[in-house]
Amino acid sequence: MFDHGKFERHSLLLTVGILAVVSIGGIVEIAPLFYLESTIEDVDGVRPYSPLELAGRDIYIREGCYNCHSQMVRPLRDEVERYGHYSLAAESKYDHPFQWGSKRTGPDLARVGGKYSDAWQVQHLINPRSLVPESIMPPYKFLVEKPLDYALIEAKMTALRRVGVPYSDEMIASAKADIAAQVDEFSDGASALAARYPKAQIRNFDGDPSQISEMDALVAYLQMLGTLVDFSTFDAVNTDARR
Ligand code: HEC
Repeated sequence: MFDHGKFERHSLLLTVGILAVVSIGGIVEIAPLFYLESTIEDVDGVRPYSPLELAGRDIYIREGCYNCHSQMVRPLRDEVERYGHYSLAAESKYDHPFQWGSKRTGPDLARVGGKYSDAWQVQHLINPRSLVPESIMPPYKFLVEKPLDYALIEAKMTALRRVGVPYSDEMIASAKADIAAQVDEFSDGASALAARYPKAQIRNFDGDPSQISEMDALVAYLQMLGTLVDFSTFDAVNTDARR
């Protein structure tokens, strides 16, 4: 019925044929994602990073933590039992670039926020083997000593706003003050910061109030990972939870 001989003798025709057949699968899988409302669920609680968290995220990227750590819990039973609720697309919608990663030399970090104390995180980053003797994670001791350079924080937030992160003028104008406020729960700016960034954790993260260190920023970032969405009320099936 179908003249296979023709296809098998003409490489160009065969190529076109293969492309046509293979793309059917691709179109069926990918095209609906552009129309389905549930591709990126509208989830309560997801907000842009506070300036300190954003600075911490930049250190995470600079140090290449993503080479060993993923930030995406897959919807598979073993992962959900180990790490918690599978990751939602909405949880990384303000990530540019996203940190899903493709390799796990260490554990997934998408829900590591609140799993350990700040002191644990700091000690682990200073010397991982002091807490986990068999660890192959490198030490990052210099982060405690290095003051956080946040001279460019407004420019970074402005750039993110250009690609769709809803930073307001007020958020950008108060970025530097917000960084100082997030490491000091008794500061005047703490309540304004908490109003701008709900669920922001405000305290001195590295235990040394004498300077805002890179460790403060990185631990602030780690401690908020996966904590924005309240999964006790989130219902992936119920459309009310989406809009
Ligand atoms: C060479 C690979 C490697 C790199 C690079 C690396 N880690 Fe790790 N990480 C590991 C391994 C392996 C473990 C598990 C053993 C341990 O806890 O130390 C781990 C564990 C962790 C944990 C504890 C997770 C848990 O749920 O117990 C955190 C947090 C963490 N790493 C953060 C970081 C951060 C932040 C960076 C970048 C500054 C980083 N890691 C860089 C390999 C790596």
